Amino acid sequence: MQKTIAVIRGDGIGPEIVDQALLVLDRISGLYGHEFTYIDVDMGGCAIDKYGDPLPEEMLQKCLAADSVLLGAVGGPKWNQVPGPMRPEKGLLRLRAGMEVYSNNRPAKIWPQLASASPLKPQIVEKGIDFLIVRELTGGIYFGRHDTFTEDGRTVAVDELRYSEDEIRRIGRIGFETARKRGGKLCSVEKSNVLDSSRLWKKVMHELADEYPDVVLTDMLVDNCAMQIVKDPGQFDVIVTENMFGDILSDEASMITGSIGMIPSSSLGDTSRGLYEPIHGSAPDIAGKDLANPIGTILAAAMMLRYSFDMAAEADCVESAVSAALDQGFRTGDILPPNSDGLTLVGCREMGRRIIENMKKG
Ligand code: IPM
Ligand code: MG
Repeated sequence: MQKTIAVIRGDGIGPEIVDQALLVLDRISGLYGHEFTYIDVDMGGCAIDKYGDPLPEEMLQKCLAADSVLLGAVGGPKWNQVPGPMRPEKGLLRLRAGMEVYSNNRPAKIWPQLASASPLKPQIVEKGIDFLIVRELTGGIYFGRHDTFTEDGRTVAVDELRYSEDEIRRIGRIGFETARKRGGKLCSVEKSNVLDSSRLWKKVMHELADEYPDVVLTDMLVDNCAMQIVKDPGQFDVIVTENMFGDILSDEASMITGSIGMIPSSSLGDTSRGLYEPIHGSAPDIAGKDLANPIGTILAAAMMLRYSFDMAAEADCVESAVSAALDQGFRTGDILPPNSDGLTLVGCREMGRRIIENMKKG
């Protein structure tokens, strides 16, 4: 198969982790006879430096013309003083909106080899952690009116959190459909004791529930959910939530599985073209030192194979190779436990090489 992939290396550790994911994709084309064409796209801080804009229109068009988009990470302290609308992160938000990828899928699954890297007590981890956060990605407070102004001589800032019922309904459906394909349990997370947008969210979720009698729907307030994720993560199957709650809860969920460096994500809309990225940031403190964990990005590339290109065997091949490299004891610094007997500390490139070495056509 021939596929065009828009590649956004971005900032910080972005370029080094993406390079490893591309080597993995090259190996897939070699093994399975596909042809992947990579189109470089500048986005984030590097695009601000080059063009004064975190996502020039031409770059968005390149992404829209591709079969899918692979992204490393954007942002860094260098651009902290840039005004809000021109920040590197704004490029990412404009990309998500421009691609209309409203459904962000973030798995929180513990790799058995990394159980000891989880900060949770072994008796909690042993019960198993395997859930998925479906995060609404193109609405809510991220896309409402942002303003900073002066009122009565004081500076005031406002960020508007707004959802329409149809925005809630389309992500709600993804939540139900996803739960149907997994364990049949959907937990809708909101703050309906305080927010109007959450009360609408809850109402729409319950209307949808009638169409999915095979899925058990529960509601949970977001503060309670943050607590339950560390107390009893085994209770969750699929969580569906709005944009900012999903941002926060997915970082928490990733940490209990060992390291945020391991977690990929897919963002999809109504077409097969998706945006695939690790959920971690650009980690400027370790950028360029060959210390980053490339696994989140490599697994994001595997998700792209599975969900956008319908290449399940190829995705399995990548995921098994990651598992094999972990079995062989290779660890980047973020997943190396204090007692590291029998484990080998490797850098970003070496981890990529070890994974590729383990890739076999299934
Ligand atoms: C994420 C990130 C982004 C977000 C930032 C970089 C804008 O934290 O993908 O979780 O908040 O969505
Ligand atoms: Mg985040």
